[in-house]
Amino acid sequence: MSAVSKDAKRMTTLTLQRMKEEGEKITMLTAYDYSMAKVIDDAGIDVILVGDSASNVMAGHETTLPITLDQMIYHASSVIRAVKKALVVVDLPFGTYQGNSTKALSSAIRIMKESGAHAVKLEGGEEIVDSVSRILTAGVPVMGHLGLTPQSIYKFGTYTVRAKEDEEAQQLLSDAKLLERVGVFGLVMEKIPADLAKTVTENLRIPTIGIGAGNQTDGQVLVSHDLFGITKEFNPRFLRRYMDLYNGMKGAVESYISDVKSSDFPNESEQY
Ligand code: KIV
Repeated sequence: MSAVSKDAKRMTTLTLQRMKEEGEKITMLTAYDYSMAKVIDDAGIDVILVGDSASNVMAGHETTLPITLDQMIYHASSVIRAVKKALVVVDLPFGTYQGNSTKALSSAIRIMKESGAHAVKLEGGEEIVDSVSRILTAGVPVMGHLGLTPQSIYKFGTYTVRAKEDEEAQQLLSDAKLLERVGVFGLVMEKIPADLAKTVTENLRIPTIGIGAGNQTDGQVLVSHDLFGITKEFNPRFLRRYMDLYNGMKGAVESYISDVKSSDFPNESEQY
């Protein structure tokens, strides 16, 4: 049992497990602030990820590495205040769990205690399994993340598709099984061949969530700013944009500027 709630409709890790068993796809999107989380939760999303992609889309950094634990807690607590139904998963940021399981546990506890989130996500396989196991001993649900793991971008050197070669694909499958064995409740797989994602999904009891991993995973995740079309310059093949909010918002600002300049705004009915 994970997220404890008196609200029977609240998503839990058990709900996600049941969805996999019943073949119902799981939906997941990122959110980093109250207003966006409210829209996404009201729309009926299953899982909200307070991703360390906040480092890119909220703070404008080139990578996810600079974001801090305090900043993640700030984003997560803003999201939590909006959410009534979704399971809220928070990324442990770079440098707060790798190579030190005691530090990993205290980072996870800070997130759970100070933000009220329901679970944490960590990037990596066997190299972080001690951290995952230690966090699990505190009763904190953990989600895994394999494939393109952006916190390792300087190791990879590129954001290209991972695990195309057999050796890396076998390692990914073995990492996935290991993470399941130690007790993660779900697994994100980012930017890997669709066939490999399908194989991993079929080999695991826990749900898999893909991003750029084809449609045979148990669910899908996108960065909400990409889905809404706010981030114009990011155009990977896997991304489907559902809006062009960048141009919509820009047009609204241009209209506002023009209305103020021409003294059209505010008009008589917009004043006291
Ligand atoms: O930080 C993030 O937004 C993520 C998703 C891309 C899965 O980890």
